[in-house]
Amino acid sequence: MITEENTAVADDYGYGIIKRTIIDESKLKQAVQKAGRLISEKYYGKPLLLVSILKGSFIFASDLFREIKIPCEIGFMAAESYGEGTVSSGEVNITLDLKHDISKYHVIIAEDICDTGITLSKIYAELMKRKPLSLRVVCLLDKPSRRKTDFKPDHALFEVPDLFLVGYGLDFSEKMRNLPYIAEADLH
Ligand code: IMP
Ligand code: MG
Repeated sequence: MITEENTAVADDYGYGIIKRTIIDESKLKQAVQKAGRLISEKYYGKPLLLVSILKGSFIFASDLFREIKIPCEIGFMAAESYGEGTVSSGEVNITLDLKHDISKYHVIIAEDICDTGITLSKIYAELMKRKPLSLRVVCLLDKPSRRKTDFKPDHALFEVPDLFLVGYGLDFSEKMRNLPYIAEADLH
């Protein structure tokens, strides 16, 4: 569990609304390396496809992909959940789909954050219909206090409190994805 203890912000790249760092670069790197190691052991000798859910997971997925040290392919999907600002409405549309025939692969979905769980439960159900050899979900962050579904990722690198988080791919209105750490944004 990541606590809310205060850490100095190194550089906010001029966005001006960062409250504090929640997970710094070295903790992210360590956790991603460990996840890559576990995946490399578990899927050794198996056809493996990592599916990055755009846009939020693109940085996490690309770092994780390079820590997977066995043969592995990458695919991309994008899902849009309709809603205002930081609140999701519950309706999810797949706006970019995979090109792979996943019935030939063990598939790992890489997602930035499991919040309400609505996006992941929809994508998981859709991919299950395509009969992959196996399907697991790895999330960088898990915010279980906000769950509106019974979805549980197979593996979450960090459990986080109910804060609005940005950086390392996560955005606030498309901004702050390029911060190399995870921070709490001050939305007021
Ligand atoms: P869901 O509510 O679990 O369906 O999450 C949908 C999407 O909302 C995630 O993939 C993120 O892109 C976004 N999201 C949820 N919580 C946060 C957050 O704290 N910061 C930035 N984006 C978030
Ligand atoms: Mg987003």
